[in-house]
This record gives sequence, structure tokens and C-alpha cells, in this order.
Amino acid sequence: MAILLFLIVSLCIQCYEVNGGRIHHQDKQLQSHDYQNLQPSIDDSFDCVDMYNQPAFQHPLLKNHKIQLFPTFLRTTMQNRSSSLSKAIKYQNFIRECPQGKVPILKTTTRQKMVTKSSSKSQLDGFNEYSESNPGHHFATLETTQDMMFHGGSARIGVYNLSLQENQYSISGIWIQSGPPAELNSIQVGSDVHLSLYGDHQIRITAYWTADGYQKTGCYNYQCPGFVQVHRGTGFGGVLQYSSKIGSLHKFVWSVKIKQDKSTGNWWCIGGKDNVALGYWPKKIFTHLSQGSSLIKYGGETYAPSNMISPPMGSGRLPKELFKNSGFISNLEIVDSNYNEVEVKPKEMKSNCDTTPNCYDVLYRGYEGSLYRQAFLFGGPGGKCGI
Ligand SMILES: *[C@@H]1O[C@H](CO)[C@@H](O)[C@H](O)[C@H]1NC(C)=O
Ligand SMILES: *[C@@H]1O[C@H](CO)[C@@H](O)[C@H](O)[C@H]1NC(C)=O
Repeated sequence: MAILLFLIVSLCIQCYEVNGGRIHHQDKQLQSHDYQNLQPSIDDSFDCVDMYNQPAFQHPLLKNHKIQLFPTFLRTTMQNRSSSLSKAIKYQNFIRECPQGKVPILKTTTRQKMVTKSSSKSQLDGFNEYSESNPGHHFATLETTQDMMFHGGSARIGVYNLSLQENQYSISGIWIQSGPPAELNSIQVGSDVHLSLYGDHQIRITAYWTADGYQKTGCYNYQCPGFVQVHRGTGFGGVLQYSSKIGSLHKFVWSVKIKQDKSTGNWWCIGGKDNVALGYWPKKIFTHLSQGSSLIKYGGETYAPSNMISPPMGSGRLPKELFKNSGFISNLEIVDSNYNEVEVKPKEMKSNCDTTPNCYDVLYRGYEGSLYRQAFLFGGPGGKCGI
């Protein structure tokens, strides 16, 4: 009882502070929300390397790869590349950029090397699906159900800071997949806190890919040849500097789009406030995804070693606590068979959660107003999540 009272009081204090004293009516809660779209920044964890000599080109299938400097679907807005770039530097002069001709690549620290070597594969097997052979993984997602070929998806991910133990992780993001389990082609991008990957507790944007169901191919970020980095100022491992507060009506989000380029077949990652094209996974490194994607998923995934309880997901609160407190992913769109970007339709989506609803849960009600559009709530405190 005392704890409950304390929670209610502290939540009220938080709303009060954020709104400068205005108390919002419950029904108006969503309309009075607003959010800030974050642009991840590169820090000292990055090296600037020659764009034409980056790790991606050590991939055997990319020996004679001709680099694509920007997506053809953004060509109209990127035509005047140098001028739009100089504007961006001026506008956000706090963001470090690599010099012309170089791109930021996350350093592999001694700590990461050590952890990678000493950990069992599944501990670093990011975004991997839960299965009996993979205990410790759990997910809560919203997924497409149509039998069709997609060419991408996009969303705005609510960014929350979570407190995790070593060897645990908790990711909020988007999955683009194709192929049967043993040959699964998958690209995943999201925000996470991941001590064993980064060696710190910062919230960073993170990517993972595989072309064979997480067996021999694929890795995080730039840890193996694959992803071709083209942007000079935003890379995977970039830090999200602000986080949403439980109970606050002002949220921080990171927007991300994964889209296949119609003319080259490469899978681009576009992200952040300025919608910058970070780079792409070449069509050539995939088998099934080369033609398109059969499944788009949005949501969260966690991992904990078998001797530990599962970490929090989303904001660490359950969807029944609604937008004010719960983790969320909003502005859900897919890129359809004709390469059009369209909102998802509630009747074509299903939620999928592999735990009891007091551990993690998913709540999707469809349209959530002009700001969040198609959006859902997901996550929870974790705990003993095995069924
Ligand atoms: C590109 O930017 C330069 C410098 O700002 C400007 O002089 C030029 O007219 C621009 N070109 C186009 C096609 O917009
Ligand atoms: C998240 O929390 C960690 C400490 O637990 C802190 O170092 C980091 O700066 C925080 N990030 C944000 C965006 O608040």
C-alpha cells in the first residue's frame, strides 16, 4: 500500500514538472503528448576509416562491389548533397562527423573481443529468436500476416533507458525477414543497452543481420563484413543521448526505416531526426532477402543467461499502464510490393509474445491519433519469464 501511494505521488510529481503545472485530462492524454526525434551521435568509440576500404569489402561476395553512395529513392532530396550536408553540420554542430571520404566505424575494443571469445555464442547472438535450443531469449512483437513480398518497414521507437546486468540485453526495434528457419535471412535494427557488446550502459542504435538462420553468417553492426557505411556522421553504435521518462508526456523516439532500393536491390537503413541514409546491406550477401521480405516485425527482445531472470523490456512497465508509462513503437509503416510506403492495417497485424502477460505483453489498438498514427505498446518488467 505504501509503495503504491509512493508510486502514485511520484508519478503525479513527474507529470506536474513536465507540464509546467498543467494537469491533463486522461482522455486528452494522447493528443497532448509530443515527442522529440533523436539523432544518434558518434563518439570516441568510433574510428574514421576510408569509405572504400571499410570492413564490408572483405566479404568474399563484395570483392568487386561498386559502392552506392545514396539510395535512389532519396535522390530527389539528396541531389544537392554537399549543400544539404553543410547545412546539417551547421545546424547540429555538436555532432562529430568524419572528414570527406571517411566513414565512422565502431571500434572493436579489447573488452568486446574478450567477451566475444569467452561467451557462449547465444549470449551475443543478438535479436535471435527464442527456441528450445536458445533458452533465455524472449520476445513481444507485432507482426505482419499478409502473404506478400514487402520491401521494407519503418517506425518510431520509444527510447527508454533500462538498467541491465552484464550479459543481459533488451532491444526495441524492427525485423525484416525472409526464408525458412534454417536459411532465415534477417535484418534487425533498434535501440538497446548492451553492456557485453559496447562495454557501457549508454543507449545505442544497434543492427544485426544473418543470411542463414544465425548459423555461420551475420553479426552485430560492423563486427563482420556486410554492412556498407556511407554516412559520415551517423553509424551503428551511435549514442541516443536522451531517454523518455516514465510518467512524462514528452517522449523521445528514434525513427528508423529499412527499405530495399528498387533499382539495386540493396537494403538501406535510414534513421533519425534528419532521416539520414546510414548505409546498406548489399543484396548480394543475402539469399531470400534479395527478392524482398515476407515478414516485418516490430517490438522487443531480451536475453538473460539461464542463471538469471529476464531483464526489463520497452520501458520496463506493462502495456496496461498505457502510453504514459509503457514502451511503445509508433508510426508503423511497411513498404509494399510496389515499393510504396503505407501504414499498417490493424486487421493485417498480429501480436506475438512468448511469456506470461505479467512478464511482457503487447497491446495494439490501431490508430492512436495524428501524432502516433498506427502504434502499439509493448514490454514489461521481465522476471521469471519461462512458461
Ligand atoms: C546546390 O547548392 C549550391 C550551394 O548552396 C547552390 O549554389 C546551387 O544552386 C544548388 N543546386 C541545386 C540544384 O539546388
Ligand atoms: C542511461 O543510464 C546510464 C547509467 O545507468 C547512463 O550512463 C546513461 O547516460 C543513460 N542514458 C540516457 C540517455 O539517459
